[in-house]
Amino acid sequence: MSQFQFVSHSTEETMRIAERLGQEAEAGDLFALDGDLGAGKTHFSKGLAKGLGVEAMVNSPTFTILKVYNGRLPFYHIDAYRLDENEEEELGLEEYMEGSGVTVVEWASNLRTQLPGRRVNITFKRVDEQERELIVCTDHVRFERIFKEFMDQ
Ligand SMILES: Nc1ncnc2c1ncn2[C@@H]1O[C@H](COP(=O)(O)OP(=O)(O)OP(=O)(O)O)[C@@H](O)[C@H]1O
Ligand SMILES: [Mg+2]
Repeated sequence: MSQFQFVSHSTEETMRIAERLGQEAEAGDLFALDGDLGAGKTHFSKGLAKGLGVEAMVNSPTFTILKVYNGRLPFYHIDAYRLDENEEEELGLEEYMEGSGVTVVEWASNLRTQLPGRRVNITFKRVDEQERELIVCTDHVRFERIFKEFMDQ
């Protein structure tokens, strides 16, 4: 598992790197996002969806918990901010995470469901108005490579 830090200087940059990750994503990939309100998790999710070829508008599903989109692969967008234990059990999130799509979870630490070991953890930190620090933890070499490419630019 490698951990590294990536600094995004704009909303566009966050969406651009997420789009690249979405282009490389494969069935069963999971992105577990954490970080404060307004840290950039939803913008990252929007970029990822775009990279997966999702044409529909991706919004923060705070009140719906789970939204399913069609792209090159199914895209599952989960927002665990307001998720309570019973709701989580009813949703049966394991089925999505182990399925044939790509999953993004905002507020992933709020989940009680055991997340699969092979995943990408990203903690977003607000530095200032435009800058966000992303602490990335993953053992997926293909995603690590994309972050490195962006850092070298
Ligand atoms: N570098 C950046 N990356 C992402 N968002 C940025 C950046 N700089 C500024 N922003 C702004 O920060 C806000 C991020 O909002 P977003 O909804 O993506 O956050 P969030 O982490 O999903 O919040 P919540 O926990 O409320 O769902 C937006 O208003 C966006 O324009
Ligand atoms: Mg959000």
